[in-house]
This record gives sequence, structure tokens and C-alpha cells, in this order.
Amino acid sequence: MEALAIHGGAPVRTKPFPQWPVYGEAEERHLLEVLHSGKWGGIGRVKLPEFEERFAAFHGAAHAVTVVNGTVGITIALMAAGVGPGDEVIMPPYTFIATATSSLLFGAIPVFADVEPDTLLLDPDKIEALITAKTKAIVTVHLGGAPSDMTRLRTIADRHGLTLIEDSAQAVGARWEGKAVGALGDLGTFSFQSSKNINAGEGGIILTNDKKLADKAWSLVNVGRIREGAWYQHEHIGWNLRMTEFQAAVLLGQMSRLDEQMDKRERNGKLLTELLGNIVGIHTIRRDPRITKHAYHLYLFKLDSSVADTVDKNEVIRRLNSEGIPVSYGYVSLNRNEALIREIESRTGERRVQDCPISERACQKEVLWLHQNVLLAEEEDMVDIAKAVRKVMASLGTGSMGRP
Ligand SMILES: Cc1ncc(COP(=O)(O)O)c(C=O)c1O
Repeated sequence: MEALAIHGGAPVRTKPFPQWPVYGEAEERHLLEVLHSGKWGGIGRVKLPEFEERFAAFHGAAHAVTVVNGTVGITIALMAAGVGPGDEVIMPPYTFIATATSSLLFGAIPVFADVEPDTLLLDPDKIEALITAKTKAIVTVHLGGAPSDMTRLRTIADRHGLTLIEDSAQAVGARWEGKAVGALGDLGTFSFQSSKNINAGEGGIILTNDKKLADKAWSLVNVGRIREGAWYQHEHIGWNLRMTEFQAAVLLGQMSRLDEQMDKRERNGKLLTELLGNIVGIHTIRRDPRITKHAYHLYLFKLDSSVADTVDKNEVIRRLNSEGIPVSYGYVSLNRNEALIREIESRTGERRVQDCPISERACQKEVLWLHQNVLLAEEEDMVDIAKAVRKVMASLGTGSMGRP
């Protein structure tokens, strides 16, 4: 057996994966235009409306409202839909903590519905048992860029009169049955934080096909103004949660490369799935055939349960990292996050600890992540990843170099 790099053997690779962000002349040109225009914020902006229009059109949405970040995007989407303090919002626990804190920011209460074992996305079968008189919304998460089952989620939301929000922070450009995410639900939100597939350092956007919701969101983000109103006319309570012209400039540049990068991630993601699918001890994540475009913000794969029960996930990560493969651990299941449990208790008077065994097991034992920049590498780099995974799995005594 080949010696592992962690034990002094030669690593499978030393070549670095592509850096993120990717940027160039387009960002530079848009940024300089903003700089020299002197219009960096306030009224009479150019880049921000241009970006909102392009981003909405790219996702087939009628309206877009930019915001300071993705977290606030979810908060404003919920508030625009009329969700208030004490109302309950159903969401998956296998997601970034902001999916939950965006509700808590104004006193709405997250309720966690477990994920599907094969897709790791919100399980529609787990939702209805959690609906109470206080439930007002479902926030689904297109985790890693894979759209969740919008067909069933829409049916459930409609049956119970709930608002359906898509947390699409990781899913710019992803498509479900040919239609882009973001406006499949009542509202959809995106993040432009620095790791995301288009990046302005920070930033976010809300999409919707409903003009009333868009106007309400716009007002909340613009200190309660109304679009056609005067500068000091505040019809609602709102805040200054606006993005700047500089962020919009960078994002226009980032969008110019998006199609090409999405195609590359999609090609490499599919190849990696083929290659990893041949390795004993590894399972790839099921891709619903109705996902017609995967955004691959993350590439997730899993240890087989027999391996996961006998080997520490951190040890697998250490071994793969030493072989030159930047896999990472990923989330802690939100239903077990003590800070969230304490905050929910302080608002409801109840210590609610929910069981979400699929998500908990995925976090603690099974699921490994690769980030989107890895999928911007070349075919031979995907082959290196599979080689390293095969080498490490063989070292763990899973007993085989491949399925027959
Ligand atoms: C699933 C998910 N939701 C929400 C957010 C919050 O976005 P932001 O960091 O822009 O506030 C992120 C990313 O950071 C995310 O990955």
C-alpha cells in the first residue's frame, strides 16, 4: 500500500487549486466608472439598477432589491411577507447559521425540519408535522447550489397558507425543471459574500415576481421610503440596508464570467461524481433529475455508514488534506447549536432541543466538502481528487481499491 503523505509518503498532489475570487478588466472598468462618476450611493445611481435588472433577468424574476448581505436579505424577505416576532419559520438544520439568525434578528422563531439522507436538502415529508398556528413561513435552502424540491415545497406552502422563501445564498444560477431559483418561491435571497459564486466582498439581493412584496422589501431597505415618494417621506419603519455602487460594479464584472464558470463547475462536478462513485466507502450525493442546473457552490460527498461509524471524520480530513486535497468538515447541525437553543429559549420561554438525526449524522460523521473554486480546476485535477480519496479510503481498511 502506498504510504500516506501524513506518514511521510509522497502526496498525491502539491499543485494548488484555483484561487478565488477570479477578477479582471471587467471589474476594473466598472469600478473606475463608479469612482469617476462621483455617484457612490444615494440617488441617481447607475450600476445598482443595472445589476438588479441583469440579475433578475438571469433568474427569470420580475423584481430585485439589493441589500447589504444575504442574512439581511432573508430577514427582509420574511418581514416583507408579514412574518413577525413570535411567528415560527420552518427551515432545515443543515445550513449556515444565518438561515436561522435572520429570523431571530426580529424575533421570529426557527423550527428545524430534518433533511433527506440522499440529497441533504430540506425533507418535504418532515414539514407538516411541525406546522402550528404560529407557523408563517418555510425557508428552504438550496444547499451547495442544489435546488431543493420546489414542486413539493410549493404544494405544502400553498396547502397551509405559508410564505415560501428560497435561501439561494449558495445557488446563483441554479435551475429546477428548467427554471432558475429565486423566484420559484414567493421570495428568494442570495449572498455576494466573498466565498460565493459571484462575489462583491459582501452584499445580497432579494428576488420576487410579486410587485407588492418587492415594494415592501424596497421600503424596508430604504428607511421606510416609497419608490415614488420624496427623500424625507417615510411611510413605514425601515432601515438603511442598501448595497453600494462599488459592490454593484464588482458584481457586474463577476456576472460577465458566470455562465462560463457555471459550465465548468457543472462539468467537473459530474466528472467527480463519476470518479468518486467507483470508490468503496464513499457515496456521492443524489442529484434529483429535476435539477437542470446545479450551481456547485459546494461539492458534497459522504463516507459510507460502515466507515463513518468506525473512523473519525476529522482523521479522514487530515489524511486528505495531507494528500493535497482541501476537503473540509462543514456545518454543525443548527438544531444542536447551543447559542440558537438559548436564544430561542429566551424568546419562547421553552428550551427546545429538536432531533434531526439525518443532519446531525451528516455533520458529525459523514459529509465532506469541497469548495466551488476546486471545481474551477481542470479534468486532471478531478482525477487527482479521486486518486487521493481512493488512497485514503484504502488506508482506512475499507479493503478495496474500487468496486468491481
Ligand atoms: C445558506 C446561506 N444562507 C445565508 C447566508 C448569509 O449570507 P451573508 O454572509 O451574505 O449574510 C449564507 C452565506 O454566508 C449561506 O451560505
